[in-house]
Amino acid sequence: MPRILFTPANSTVSVPAGVTVLEAARAADVDIITPCGGRGKCGKCRVRVIEGRVETGETDEQAHGGGSDGWVLACTARVGRTDLIVDVPEKAVWHAGDAEDPSELLKPFSSDHLPVCDRLDRSVEAITLTVATSERDERQSDFARVRSALAALDLESAEFPLTILRGLAEALRLDEGRITLVVERRENHTCILDVISGHVCPPLYGLAVDIGTTNIAVLIVSLREGAILACEADYNDQVVCGLDLISRINYAGRENGLTELHSRVVETINRLTRRACKVCQIQPCEVVAAAVSGNTTMTHLFLGLTPKYIRLEPYSPTILAETPEYRAGRVGLVVNRECHVHLSPSVGSYIGGDIAAGIPCTGLTADSEDICLYMDIGTNGELVVGNRDLLISSACSAGSALEGMDSECGMRAAEGAIKECSLDGDTGRLSLSVIGEGRPLGICGAGLV
Ligand code: FES
Repeated sequence: MPRILFTPANSTVSVPAGVTVLEAARAADVDIITPCGGRGKCGKCRVRVIEGRVETGETDEQAHGGGSDGWVLACTARVGRTDLIVDVPEKAVWHAGDAEDPSELLKPFSSDHLPVCDRLDRSVEAITLTVATSERDERQSDFARVRSALAALDLESAEFPLTILRGLAEALRLDEGRITLVVERRENHTCILDVISGHVCPPLYGLAVDIGTTNIAVLIVSLREGAILACEADYNDQVVCGLDLISRINYAGRENGLTELHSRVVETINRLTRRACKVCQIQPCEVVAAAVSGNTTMTHLFLGLTPKYIRLEPYSPTILAETPEYRAGRVGLVVNRECHVHLSPSVGSYIGGDIAAGIPCTGLTADSEDICLYMDIGTNGELVVGNRDLLISSACSAGSALEGMDSECGMRAAEGAIKECSLDGDTGRLSLSVIGEGRPLGICGAGLV
């Protein structure tokens, strides 16, 4: 297999001939940005082949002048049969820490409680049971005795997942049949989420996740009083696969693209959940409820559903408001694997569960005739206007305007981006203001304005 050395990272990888330089770079842990989702359209993933030969498509050369001096698009150029040395310019690499600090996102959560803590979901509770001890000639299993005790509470049909059953024998014997069960009650189904030895009042923790196209924020919340116990935020690991929704949808259409996007978003959530749990000094498996909101595309990628039909007529996604609920373990979250993940319902292909989740937290649906406007300006911008009688919503891509997507020199507002310039009328001297105050690499949206 050809070996590829990426400079200046000095990272080497061996890959089969035919994979794209982008895929090889990912395998070598070199995160090349793909603002257009790897469609060969934006030219931002240009790298220079210093040694060896790659197979380039006609489009690269026509659109971006690649080939003659070694410049190629990493997303379309394919590794040939020879070893390669590929130089990746600074501008083409994703630097997680060079833009604004995502923890700034958490400032709205400076209050200690959720805005609607008087409407807490009580679907998860802890109940205590005293289970009769086993008699020698009775031949009754632990499970049968627990079922009898549950029958007295009308819970004999509660589901007892195998993962929970595995801990039952020890829990029963540690305190002479006294146990506490963490129970999740849903409309037609009750499930045991945990079994604890003794009669205790365990703290019940919930996880709230906001999956943004660019950033992800998680909160750990006390389900008993609605207190916010920890907040963490970071870039969505998917950003290297495309900056806006359409680019992500395109990326999902690449070979293994959907699997990669799904694992990247789940991994970001799990990383943040572990960090938040560390702050609370708990284990992620102690979190027994999870609520996730995101725009329609992010919800699809989170569940590993193809987002392809979100952008194709007649714009019919796999799920919208009727979002089914899946167990956390099935989705891949590190919290209690048996609890169900509540997903905010989406309204349309581009009016997602994120803005829908925000509406109940505002006064928009309050009993008022006043017309109000609620805006969520993110990479995907959405707004809702109306009052108690009627709400009208709309959405458009806001982020790409800020990221210089369609400008040859355009870039994110990261280190090296020109954010401002001024011309001295007397001297004719042009002054640039560059993020990080180093060498200018490109122009971000503010700079273009
Ligand atoms: Fe390669 Fe846009 S041209 S990611």
